[in-house]
Amino acid sequence: MKKIIALIGSQRKKGTYDAVLKFGEYLKSYGGIEFETIFLHDYNLEFCTGCKLCFDKGEEYCPLKDDRDILIEKISRSDGVVFASPNYAFHVSARMKNLFDRLAFIFHRPCFWGKACTAIVTQGVFGGNKIVKYLSSMGENLGFHASRGCVLQTLEPTTEAMRGKNNRKIKKAAAAFYKALMNGTPSPSLFRLMMFRMTRTMICRLQSGEYRDYYYFKEIGWFESDYYYPASLGLFKKAMGRFFDFIGRRMAL
Ligand SMILES: Cc1cc2nc3c(=O)[nH]c(=O)nc-3n(C[C@H](O)[C@H](O)[C@H](O)COP(=O)(O)O)c2cc1C
Repeated sequence: MKKIIALIGSQRKKGTYDAVLKFGEYLKSYGGIEFETIFLHDYNLEFCTGCKLCFDKGEEYCPLKDDRDILIEKISRSDGVVFASPNYAFHVSARMKNLFDRLAFIFHRPCFWGKACTAIVTQGVFGGNKIVKYLSSMGENLGFHASRGCVLQTLEPTTEAMRGKNNRKIKKAAAAFYKALMNGTPSPSLFRLMMFRMTRTMICRLQSGEYRDYYYFKEIGWFESDYYYPASLGLFKKAMGRFFDFIGRRMAL
């Protein structure tokens, strides 16, 4: 049984929620899927104060006492996450953005390997494609493997034709997500490999156990590994990895 959660950034049970329910229906039709919807507005998530204690000392030093860790626990226990948000002023809703601000320390120490993610964006008119890309990129920065998401036109009142088109897009996104869920963790793209090698070169410069990032990388063995997780890179990517190390060292001078 695969456990999937949908994190919803909408304030109401309308376009985004309906799309998520439809996505869940299509996904469950494959069998072996447990699907849970989670409205971010049901959780108390304060705004980041910018102290950076989570980056430097560790997330347990965050001065905000709220539901952040409950949400992290829910993500950790899942096999996959759907990030669903309405397009608000050409971006995700503030609640969804706030979630990423509060999880930003995980961008330094990604941990959701082996999990799939996808994005559902609803909108009136325009701007959703960039938001889907943004959500996928946020998921990948947290460690997920992102499958192709979808943008849905939910201008009210919605027409039958609009609903039909949306359903086809949702069905396609659910199929892609199911495939990602079943295929497991892929070999990293060149871009992801570059991000890892450059990040670790920067973190290696800290050379101090005072920094959480440094000793986290050291403890896990990321200063010596090819990538965050065991991956067969092949000769070309291995050579590119060494090249990215070199560029990283030059940049860090
Ligand atoms: C504050 C606000 C800003 C919005 N900005 C955009 C926008 O920039 N582009 C767009 O196409 N739709 C925009 N919309 C429309 C919503 O994305 C659309 O109605 C969406 O379906 C709302 O999702 P919901 O039904 O789950 O609330 C905006 C709606 C609101 C309330």
